[in-house]
Amino acid sequence: MSLFSIQGLTKRFGSLAATNGVSVEIEREGILSIIGPNGAGKTTFFNLVTGLLKPDAGKIIYQGKDITGQKPYEIIRHGLSRSFQVVSLFEELSVLDNVRVGVQRNLGFMNRLFLNYRRAAEVTERAMEILDLIGLADQADQPAAAIPHGDRKILDLGLALTTKPQSLLLDEPMAGLSKAERTRITQLIKELSLTHKIIVVEHDMDVVFGISDFILVLHHGSVLALGEPKDIAANEEVQSAYLGLEVH
Ligand SMILES: Nc1ncnc2c1ncn2[C@@H]1O[C@H](COP(=O)(O)OP(=O)(O)O)[C@@H](O)[C@H]1O
Ligand SMILES: [Mg+2]
Repeated sequence: MSLFSIQGLTKRFGSLAATNGVSVEIEREGILSIIGPNGAGKTTFFNLVTGLLKPDAGKIIYQGKDITGQKPYEIIRHGLSRSFQVVSLFEELSVLDNVRVGVQRNLGFMNRLFLNYRRAAEVTERAMEILDLIGLADQADQPAAAIPHGDRKILDLGLALTTKPQSLLLDEPMAGLSKAERTRITQLIKELSLTHKIIVVEHDMDVVFGISDFILVLHHGSVLALGEPKDIAANEEVQSAYLGLEVH
């Protein structure tokens, strides 16, 4: 059984089909990158799969379960989590507290005014584990507003981990980052891929061809190709649609 079986997935905004009959099987193993020009429908695809948008047609089967049209909090319970192209943090809260809020929410005691001591300690411990994992433990006490852009992207990735997902969908985790920061996130993604299914939207072709086991190419909301990097690089349709200018 595939991890994802996506059938005829369609989302229209007025007359534009941002996702246009996408059918794709995504296997359990390996890092999958999704590429395609701006406006190809990559973020819309993530929004559909994670329940932020409802499809107009089609089905999303995850681990054999039909999750089509479910709400984000329901989909999170199936083990799917995501990071965002545009990072949104609680700016005045510390790095640690941003993660604590995420952990707390997912343990289901967000609405309780008082956490008992044991619970509070549990939340902090789990949050620190995540900061250790993503390499931000040193910055735990910094206000989120004070940390560099690369660390913000990493923190957002850490927030996606608070739901204990099996699958992580990362939307342009390296956008706007320096070479050094990209290298750091690439390394983190590789580490996380040992324990999580990673699906990543990325524009940096060096990164994409460096880390991917499979590449899905979207174009005008449709699947142009899905295959191993060497096949995608050699695919003439992909080259003329998209890669020509970027891969030498
Ligand atoms: N909420 C929306 N309302 C109207 N049009 C949208 C909306 N979200 C995306 N679009 C359009 O759908 C197309 C695909 O967008 P998007 O999925 O963000 O592409 P990508 O992430 O590949 O750059 C674009 O033409 C975009 O303008
Ligand atoms: Mg996008």
